[in-house]
Amino acid sequence: MPDHTTPETPVTFPPAFLWGAATSAYQIEGAVREDGRTPSIWDTFSHTPGKTADGDTGDIAVDHYHRYRDDVALMADLGLNAYRFSVSWSRVQPTGRGPAVQVGLDFYRRLVDELLSHGIKPAITLYHWDLPQELEDAGGWPARDTAARFAEYARIVGEALGDRVEQWITLNEPWCSAFLGYGSGVHAPGRTGTLAPLRAAHHLNLAHGLGTQALRSVLPARASVAVSLNSSVIRTLSQDPADLAAAQKIDDLANGVFHGPMLHGAYPATLLRATSSITDWSFVQDGDLQAIHQPLDGLGLNYYTPTLVSAGDAAAPGPRADGHGTSTHSPWPGADDVAFHQTPGDRTEMGWTIDPSGLHELITRYSREAPGVPLYITENGAAYDDKVDSDGQVYDPERIAYLHAHLSAVHRAIADGVDVRGYYLWSLMDNFEWAYGYAKRFGAVYVDYASLERTPKASGHWYGRAARSGTLPD
Ligand code: NOJ
Repeated sequence: MPDHTTPETPVTFPPAFLWGAATSAYQIEGAVREDGRTPSIWDTFSHTPGKTADGDTGDIAVDHYHRYRDDVALMADLGLNAYRFSVSWSRVQPTGRGPAVQVGLDFYRRLVDELLSHGIKPAITLYHWDLPQELEDAGGWPARDTAARFAEYARIVGEALGDRVEQWITLNEPWCSAFLGYGSGVHAPGRTGTLAPLRAAHHLNLAHGLGTQALRSVLPARASVAVSLNSSVIRTLSQDPADLAAAQKIDDLANGVFHGPMLHGAYPATLLRATSSITDWSFVQDGDLQAIHQPLDGLGLNYYTPTLVSAGDAAAPGPRADGHGTSTHSPWPGADDVAFHQTPGDRTEMGWTIDPSGLHELITRYSREAPGVPLYITENGAAYDDKVDSDGQVYDPERIAYLHAHLSAVHRAIADGVDVRGYYLWSLMDNFEWAYGYAKRFGAVYVDYASLERTPKASGHWYGRAARSGTLPD
């Protein structure tokens, strides 16, 4: 069904709908050596030659640490009513264990107070990929203790900010942490392997479970605890059994490995079978699955593009066209017999095909996987090669079209009866796009990286009009 609306059918969202934007600490804050903050794996990785485009780092990023007041004012001027940001673990608990640094927590308290005073609802992501380096040196996510450390950190932040923040997200896209960080190595800490990503995935799941329990022990009852998954919408070249089997493999490795234990209390049997030559999963200890299977107050879905697979040639050399970087190491353990293809259609600057029907499909699927759990689109957006025009404005009609089409897909899901409570555009402003450095601009606000001046793009104004009116402007 096309995402088509007519003037007779205005696309109106529920009055309490959250119209937000999202960011993460390492991508925007800068100030990496200030106020007791220690290096995270992303500091180490981005300072390792050859790991990021042009050797870009988050040392300064967009200097949000010093400019947060202006950035909150920008959000308020645009008309947003929600903001999702992450806390830098090594800013509040520099060694990843032990007591917190008050000055680090104070930064986030000031940020939250600034948001609240502008009527903007904060949503905190506790872990958006920036593990304290000391914890990586002790084994990182493949080590079980990291999950316990995360629960301690979650409790610290919950105690400090629970009186004023209602929306909590334990992990952002644990798939990327596990499979890009320890499988293909295109993300920090840049390790490659087949067993380590599976161990990491389990310990991230455990961190989510223990972290959720820790948060609930300190947060008021009204608080909402969620997780943000980048679950894939998987399509196949054909309905041949071999292609369907390939899709099942990737569905397990991308989706079931996280939503299985989190939502259903078990890893998919098909995943355990497909990875049996790599591991017997004996790192899953008694009680882990119960700990991971916590009731959720919300489920965050991050969506950009679907994934197209078929049965493939296990011997085919070279990087895989799966949209996750160019490592010669696959991020998909045990799936060497799966081929990835570019889905047809227009693409964004990331090379990701624009397919809003995938967002509707994703929402529909998770309304079934997690019945009764409110859904949030915690990320969606597009990178384009934006330029400042001679009149000082940034015209980005492709991004407006992208947002319009994807928000229409969200609306369609709400009209179907799905409880979708909010949408966070990725991203509030241009920022450090991980291995791509500053080359890819996702912002609703343009950032001049020389002066750090911010200029709302046409899409930012458009999105603000949507947020203010609760309908999609033309
Ligand atoms: C996923 C991540 O959560 C975010 O950090 C990243 O910048 C966007 N997607 C775009 O790739």
